[in-house]
Parts: sequence; structure tokens; C-alpha cells
Amino acid sequence: MRTIGVLTSGGDAPGMNAAIRAVVRGAVYNKVKVYGIRRGYEGLLEGDIAEMEVSSVSDIIQRGGTVLRTARSQEFMEPAGFKRALDMLENFEIGGLVVIGGDGSLTGGRELSHAGISVMGLPGTIDNDLAYTECSIGFDTAVNTVLSAISNIRDTSSSHGRCTVVEVMGRNCGDIALYAGLAGGAEYILIPEKETDLNAMCRKIIQGKNRGKLHSLIIRAEGAELGTAELAKIIEQRTGLETKAVVLGYTQRGGSPTARDRILASLMGYRAIELLLSGNRSKAVGIKGGSIIDMDLDKALDMKRVWNGTIMDLCDILSI
Ligand code: F6P
Repeated sequence: MRTIGVLTSGGDAPGMNAAIRAVVRGAVYNKVKVYGIRRGYEGLLEGDIAEMEVSSVSDIIQRGGTVLRTARSQEFMEPAGFKRALDMLENFEIGGLVVIGGDGSLTGGRELSHAGISVMGLPGTIDNDLAYTECSIGFDTAVNTVLSAISNIRDTSSSHGRCTVVEVMGRNCGDIALYAGLAGGAEYILIPEKETDLNAMCRKIIQGKNRGKLHSLIIRAEGAELGTAELAKIIEQRTGLETKAVVLGYTQRGGSPTARDRILASLMGYRAIELLLSGNRSKAVGIKGGSIIDMDLDKALDMKRVWNGTIMDLCDILSI
């Protein structure tokens, strides 16, 4: 393997830059030429490709977003666009590719690997929705961002004796809601993986108020049933408590990555280089039980996610 490429694709996630840095410096250290492909698969099929050196990734480990920029490419998913992407890889003699992104991005990588390119997939998404890895790059930072917002909201909610519904990201995955909910002491968490018990939620809010609680915090994952504003209205009607709706939105995608995300990204990025150098064709890099793992990309993407019911139960118990 003499020449490789690296790209970030899909929604950006804090820690992607640390992963790019590890890939580029890992490649240079091992005397491999490395190209940065800008704007994900969109940039690949357009030939938006430039060689990267040690200094190309200076001063980026602490930055959110992705210096390679990103995109969600419709064209790449069509036969003509896919063929152009393959032609570009050939033009630049790129035999190995490191793809940093979520489910859709790694699925794109899987297609390229079926077409003969060596592809190493790194999980880069705040959603934490990839089944094969316990944690994705960006998830920890997003949870901490939500936590900091929740803490601010608590202050004002308590002062006014209000209930607040906070909507967090995650697409069809409830992990950001679950983990930020547990860490932030939420009264109730709504996630797409579990049916919501409106009676239990309202009962809890009222019982908390009767016990002297000054506020109630409800975390709703964006993919859960009912809209956030609608939910706030229902709570207000059924409990009599003034209820506000807050949508955190893209604040969760930005910001300087936590130490955990930087470390994860560095370990995973370097593992991708090692895997390419030892002749692997198609791998997904992840983490399990605190150790970096790699697994066949097809197998990794075919795995079904199991959500963590223990976190939900614990949150319910501790917020009585
Ligand atoms: O996958 C990351 C994510 O932020 C999801 O949580 C969210 O549903 C989606 O991306 C938003 O996508 P876009 O950036 O295209 O609006």
C-alpha cells in the first residue's frame, strides 16, 4: 500500500479532525503517501483531492467540525457517480481509503470495498448508532454539550418552577438522550426505541412537584414519538405546570472534542493505517470493553443495534 486517501462524510462530529490527524501522521510516519479528499464522496467524484503532509494537520486536534469538510452525496449513490468515484481513485492511484463517518458513510465505503478498494471505516457520528462499536467519535462531546445545556436550563427552570422538554439529536437512536439524561438527572427520557408511557411521565412530574421538586426535566430524542412542542403542550395540559420546549439542534454537533473523543479518534485513526499496511481489504474500527477492535466491514454493518435498557431503568429509579 503506497498511496491512501482519507475522507469525512455525512454529519460532522467533534473528533473527526483528531482522526484525520492520526491517519495523516500515521501514514507519513510509515512512508505512505496520503491524499485528503474534501467534501466526502461528493468531493471524491469531483476530484477535490490534495496531498496532505505533517503540517496539513497541525493545530487541528482541538477543533470541532472537519477540516476536510463534509457532504451527503446523492450522486455517489447512483451508478454513474459511483463509477466516477472509482475512476478518481484510479487517477490518483489511491488503493486504500479511510472513511470517517456514520452508517451511510461506512455503507458507501462498503460498496467501494466490493469494487476492489481497500476500505477502513472509522465511526464518526454524534448519534452513536453503529451496532458494532460501543462508542463512536463525537458521541462523548455531544453528550457533554447537552449536559452543559441541561445544567443551564435547570437553573432557570427551578427559579420559575417550570417543566422543560429538551430535544436532542440522534436520528433514530436514543443514546444521546439516554446518556445525557442519566448524567443530567432527567425525570423522563423519550427515545425512538421505546414506547412512551405518557401517564407514567405525567404522574412522575406531579409526584415530584408534590414532594417539593422545583423543576422537571424531560429529554426527548428527535426520533421519538410526538413532536417536542406537542409534548410540552400535552404535559402542560395534563399536569397544570408551565412547560417550555427547547430544541438544542446543531449546538450538539460543534465544539472542541473532549479528551475521550480525541483519544478514541487518535487510537482508531492509527489502527486504520496499521490495518491497511498489513494488507487488510475491508474493516470497521471500533471499541469494545475499552479496547480498540476491528471487524469485517460487511459484518459490522449488518449487526443490529441493541439499546441499553439498564440506563433507562436507572435514570427512572434515580429521578424518583
Ligand atoms: O447524524 C448526525 C445528525 O446530527 C443527526 O443527529 C441528525 O438527525 C442529522 O445529522 C441532521 O442532519 P443534517 O446535518 O443533514 O441536518
